[in-house]
Amino acid sequence: MTDNFYITTPIYYVNAKPHLGHAYTTIIADVVCRYNTMLGKDAFLLTGTDEHGDKVVRAAEKENLNPKEYADKISRLFRNLWPELNIKYNSFIRTTDPSHIEIVKQVLQKIYDSGDIYFSEYEGLYCFGCERFYTERELVNGKCPDHETEPETIKESNYFFKMSRYQDWLIDHIRRHPDFIRPERYKNEVLSFLKDPLEDLCISRPKTRLEWGISLPFDDKYVTYVWFDALLNYVTALGYPDGEFFKKYWPEAQHIVAKDILKPHGIYWPIILKAAGIPLFKHLNVHGYWNIDQSKMSKSLGNVVEPLSLKNTYGLDAFRYFLVREMVFGLDSGFNEEALVSRINSDLANDIGNLFSRVITMVHKYFGGVIPEINPETEDEMQGGLKFDASAALSEYKKAMESFSFHKALMSVWEFINQMNKYVDTTAPWELAKKKSERKELEFVIYNLLEGLRIVSGLIYPVMPDTAKTMQQHLGQNPESIFYDLNQLKSWKVLKAGTSIPKSVTLFPRIDKKKEEQILTDEIKTERDVLEIKPEITIEVLSKIDLRVATIVKAEKIKGAKKVLKLEIDLGDTRTIVSGIALSYTPEELVGKQVIVVANLKPAKIMGLVSNGMLLAAVDENGCTVATLDKKVKPGTPLT
Ligand code: MSP
Repeated sequence: MTDNFYITTPIYYVNAKPHLGHAYTTIIADVVCRYNTMLGKDAFLLTGTDEHGDKVVRAAEKENLNPKEYADKISRLFRNLWPELNIKYNSFIRTTDPSHIEIVKQVLQKIYDSGDIYFSEYEGLYCFGCERFYTERELVNGKCPDHETEPETIKESNYFFKMSRYQDWLIDHIRRHPDFIRPERYKNEVLSFLKDPLEDLCISRPKTRLEWGISLPFDDKYVTYVWFDALLNYVTALGYPDGEFFKKYWPEAQHIVAKDILKPHGIYWPIILKAAGIPLFKHLNVHGYWNIDQSKMSKSLGNVVEPLSLKNTYGLDAFRYFLVREMVFGLDSGFNEEALVSRINSDLANDIGNLFSRVITMVHKYFGGVIPEINPETEDEMQGGLKFDASAALSEYKKAMESFSFHKALMSVWEFINQMNKYVDTTAPWELAKKKSERKELEFVIYNLLEGLRIVSGLIYPVMPDTAKTMQQHLGQNPESIFYDLNQLKSWKVLKAGTSIPKSVTLFPRIDKKKEEQILTDEIKTERDVLEIKPEITIEVLSKIDLRVATIVKAEKIKGAKKVLKLEIDLGDTRTIVSGIALSYTPEELVGKQVIVVANLKPAKIMGLVSNGMLLAAVDENGCTVATLDKKVKPGTPLT
């Protein structure tokens, strides 16, 4: 075992704000990193943002910013979010960092010089959303599986990376290192993909099509494919090839990604490393997806979960605990707030919170707030107390943490917590306290419970660092020293008798009905901040807006206008509206639809036509979706 440890998250695209999925991966990386510091290792956590490519250009255009300005803005959101979630990263890389760009060029040149990059004409099916070519086999019903759009056939000359040359080598490496990709299901997925011949990877994009990228050092009419640039962040951030960090941490590298980016990490990345003569990473750890009500989280479905709003509502440690406990690493999980509330009430407020406050209160009630002494004879008589349960929990926990089974690690801690709760019930300290003759037993029971809590506080540290600290302080410990040492948790009787401890606090308040209502109001408030909702208006102002239901009777394109359509609507009377929805709807799709319009908007002249009103629609990065009603009503019906 070496003393260094290196863990990475994916570098996130800057085309959207951070959400629950990004937070999960980064929290897991933080948990793993903190756990490794407890083993006495020098652990390094890398995260960052992926800033080149077509997606960023398009997102920037929508906000009237240039790609760099836009990347600066979103990258900052990620960088500022992590400390709020108590994630201690050691470095934050951006693919627009000049040092990254320089090293990517060096690696490209090295692979080019070795003959693994060639120039060729290629005609293929290209998905602009994914920024990559697809093979027929990869399409689902002829469409890109991610974007559900038909890829376009494009023909161009490009540079290709000879991945095919390394196919057998990679299969062999994966077979000889069975936990190179874990959990096993993802290793099998990669091996199954590798059963078919691997196509060479197109690693360039002509600047005529995309300028926002790293220029190829051997042909500046091209930029490099965004994945070739992005994957290299894991070594450029360490100062590859000569940096001290690279030498120190890279031999211990482990990556964490979700299943969406298994292929680039399980296939392209090891092959790039091999071709560049860089040793491979140790493990690729792949987790599943957080879904919301069985569907993918996406801006267009409007179901994106904001990590900060959950933190503000439920508390940071409760949020971190829920994510780590609820998801089986490797499988998908459904996110819902009822499950979160129920875990807070049962696992946190009830199991650990009650135990903690009961024990600390008893120390104050029976021992004046001072840790009692235990007598060695009583120890023999009482058969070891909680010592053996603690040691069993510790070894289960360690096994689980090392194999990335975080939910199991927490389960083993909670099993111990429940054993402690039973211990309180069976030893009934309040009965012992009634008889002077049982004073020694009482001291023994309470001391055991305090030691048990000390161990629990250490074991929860990677997931709930703040709670661990609070618990340590209430056990009279120096919070700065003890958590970081798993070995100390193996010892029993660490707490010093005679130490005064502070009065109890509530670690996790129960979330009751009243609080839930409060949560709702808080949520609305946070939503307002997140959604950048406009300033409040009074009901009088609102009542001035005349919203009506209208049926579209005719829709047609306007010559020379790409974005707008001319609509004839029935609103009781018939009128014309010019609406900017042409990029999202064909005229045929619209006829017969019932929509909602602002009926009393001052007429305006658009494309030479007088537009009489405005149609309501939701606009996001996928275009616009018109507001409709779920039942047909009489045209002209007002909305109240
Ligand atoms: N930029 C690439 C990664 C390059 S790494 C060299 C990218 N970025 S991303 O912004 O799309 O982030 C994808 C990652 O975000 C996933 O692999 C996962 O870590 C996290 N998640 C995004 N959505 C998620 C869920 N719904 N659930 C769990 N994690 C998810 O791909």
